[in-house]
Amino acid sequence: MATLLHIDSSVLPGEASSSRSVAAAFRQAWEEQHPDGTVIHRDLAADPVPHITAVAWSAGYAAPAERTPEQSAAFAVREALIEELEQADVVLIGAPMHNFSIPSTLKAWVDNVLLLGRTAGENPSAKGTPAVVVASRGGSYAPGTPREGFEYVRNYLEAVLERTLGLDLDFIVPELTLAPRNPAMSELVPLYEASRKRAFEEAAVKAKELAERLAACPPDRTPCDASPPGGHTASSPLPLIPPGDGPPGDGPPGDGRTGSAGPSTARPRRPPARRPGVRPAAPPPHGPCRRAPCPAA
Ligand SMILES: Cc1cc2nc3c(=O)[nH]c(=O)nc-3n(C[C@H](O)[C@H](O)[C@H](O)COP(=O)(O)O)c2cc1C
Repeated sequence: MATLLHIDSSVLPGEASSSRSVAAAFRQAWEEQHPDGTVIHRDLAADPVPHITAVAWSAGYAAPAERTPEQSAAFAVREALIEELEQADVVLIGAPMHNFSIPSTLKAWVDNVLLLGRTAGENPSAKGTPAVVVASRGGSYAPGTPREGFEYVRNYLEAVLERTLGLDLDFIVPELTLAPRNPAMSELVPLYEASRKRAFEEAAVKAKELAERLAACPPDRTPCDASPPGGHTASSPLPLIPPGDGPPGDGPPGDGRTGSAGPSTARPRRPPARRPGVRPAAPPPHGPCRRAPCPAA
């Protein structure tokens, strides 16, 4: 059964919000393709997740048995959010532009789910999961526009969701959404309308395309028999700043032993490249749906 993780972060309700409306259209098309599917909906504006704290952050680097009660409680929130991400076959995120970047509520979600050794690092646990971001904005930051260099939504999400979490990222960008309300932008209303129309069309097309990909490669949720690699201990502390120059998800495939497997890997982890959205560089010999081997014990 396919699972969609649907995250909204607009402060505006319902149809007043471009990102909510376009994401809803995507979701509707996705649900039509997956009548038995599951949708996990997080509305970060209505129910914000907590900002990361020192306790929640350090809990991610402590073995479960070694966590203080405070750390365990704080980590439970992160665990729930991470599991939602890991369960998802498709991730849908409404990401309106707030002062050139993403809403702080969405940033808080990122800070909670990004955990080196699990969702980030050598074999990110959600690697290859298709993700569609609806990046609405009041103006336009398209290449060649005067504010091109002020765009920190797409750039940021590419760095964190694609190059760090390893998601297979795609964007829908409804732009110039303030044109109908701002007299100074009245000449841009036709461009806004065209952008809006295109966004809804893209939402329907992308939802259908992803459903077809999922149908061709149903998710394999068989847990690996192999025990996960050992967690961090006092004698093998994880650097608090991710090491290396390059993005963690871009390194060569590991054997599951190296790197920074954290205590949270105590649950079975998905091996890389067995998610429906994975697009391997070269076709594997047994077809695109063949499950990659589990990491060696
Ligand atoms: C706090 C806040 C800051 C905003 N900052 C920008 C901005 O920097 N650039 C921009 O183009 N639009 C900005 N806007 C406008 C929104 O991006 C625009 O209304 C967009 O449609 C919001 O997405 P939504 O319709 O899904 O809520 C801002 C809106 C809010 C509420």
